[in-house]
Amino acid sequence: MSYDKKLVVGIFGYGVVGQALFQVLGHTPSLQSTIKKICIKHPKKPRDLDPSWFTTDRNDILNDDEINVVIEVTDDADASFEIAKTCLSKRKAVITANKKMVAARLEELVQLQQEFNTPLLYESACCASIPIIRNLEEYYDNDLLRGFEGIINGSTNFILSKMHQGGLTFEAALKIAQEKGFAESNPALDIHGHDAASKLCILLAHAYGVLLQPNELVFTGIENITPFDISYAKSRNCQIKLVAQALKLENGKVVSFLIPRFVREGQLLYQVKDEFNGLAITSALADQQFFYGKGAGGFPTASAILSDLSALRYDYRYEYRKLLQQEPSVLDQNVHLNVYISYDHWEQLPIQVFEKEEEYFSSFNRHYRKGTISLKTLAISDWWKKPGVSLIVCEDSIAESLNTIHHFSESHFELAA
Ligand SMILES: NC(=O)c1ccc[n+]([C@@H]2O[C@H](COP(=O)([O-])OP(=O)(O)OC[C@H]3O[C@@H](n4cnc5c(N)ncnc54)[C@H](OP(=O)(O)O)[C@@H]3O)[C@@H](O)[C@H]2O)c1
Repeated sequence: MSYDKKLVVGIFGYGVVGQALFQVLGHTPSLQSTIKKICIKHPKKPRDLDPSWFTTDRNDILNDDEINVVIEVTDDADASFEIAKTCLSKRKAVITANKKMVAARLEELVQLQQEFNTPLLYESACCASIPIIRNLEEYYDNDLLRGFEGIINGSTNFILSKMHQGGLTFEAALKIAQEKGFAESNPALDIHGHDAASKLCILLAHAYGVLLQPNELVFTGIENITPFDISYAKSRNCQIKLVAQALKLENGKVVSFLIPRFVREGQLLYQVKDEFNGLAITSALADQQFFYGKGAGGFPTASAILSDLSALRYDYRYEYRKLLQQEPSVLDQNVHLNVYISYDHWEQLPIQVFEKEEEYFSSFNRHYRKGTISLKTLAISDWWKKPGVSLIVCEDSIAESLNTIHHFSESHFELAA
């Protein structure tokens, strides 16, 4: 498909992102694009545009031969996939922000793009305004990319920041996040880590050619983090962040997980506060590089969609080189993690899971243990996600051998007043 001609756009979804996109597209004449129709779900919802813009019949867009680009910004992953699949089969380029859909259906989406020689772009699906997918895809060769670590969900980062700054409980911080519009009224996808896990799957595909479903990842959210954990972090000059990590091991395999982590003052991710996102990439030659920006919101997300739209003008498409042209990397769970686990009751922690113990603390209300645990243990169990148990990985979280672990010692941790 040649994009010398005008981009005639059909949009699915007119919510937070769709409305921002409509505004900015109208003010970006350089893109030479025209919106022809917007498909929404609820016809009676009040809108700020003339009703002639809207339809509830998806075929008004799918069967319109003049529309050559479809921007899909619904919140319905199943509909989103059906729309993307139909568009690609009709050789309409697709741009989507739907990370849940992309992560769950990436293998089929790659095949469809190849079969119909038509691009699907989704920069906005990962960290909204931060151009991370195209960078991983184009700039970092698999062999040179040592790893990345990122804060890739703004809601959870906002909540943890408020807990740290204001000494709030998780529930009180979540309420503020909801009042300010940084968390959904149903925040489950964010706080349990599902949203960030979907993004991590997309990042792994473009970074290392690893294709996996979110439920194959070891991940958790932040709902069990307590003020006790925050006090512990402060006493060590750390903040707790929900960090997506990937690291290429000496054996060429990749270890990856999404678990809360202590981030020490001075580390790059420490400065990523409130609703912001940040990603630090480590490459073999260039050392660390840092991406920082707004990871959600109508306009930041629309900015990434505009960038995709602009890329279509020069026929850009993801080549999935690390997946299709190189030997894709394989995930490895045979590593040891240095972790801190706090808990209400002794019986919540199967103590035999520790391969080595480094530190313990016990008080009337809460206890913690620090030590080494294998990632595989976490992959096959869920006691560490249960209410009352809070598992946080330490700064130097991944150990390929147990030798790096310190000896068991009693802690002198004192709770901050
Ligand atoms: N909001 C963000 O900051 C952000 C950031 C990055 C990515 N995203 C992703 O972008 C997408 C949209 O997010 P949003 O915040 O804009 O969602 P939203 O405000 O809830 O809006 C969703 C829109 O999708 C429409 N819709 C739902 N099902 C549909 C269907 N079957 N056919 C046609 N339209 C349908 C809804 O129609 P009605 O208006 O009729 O209800 C609504 O206009 C999601 O996939 C989200 O994960 C969002």
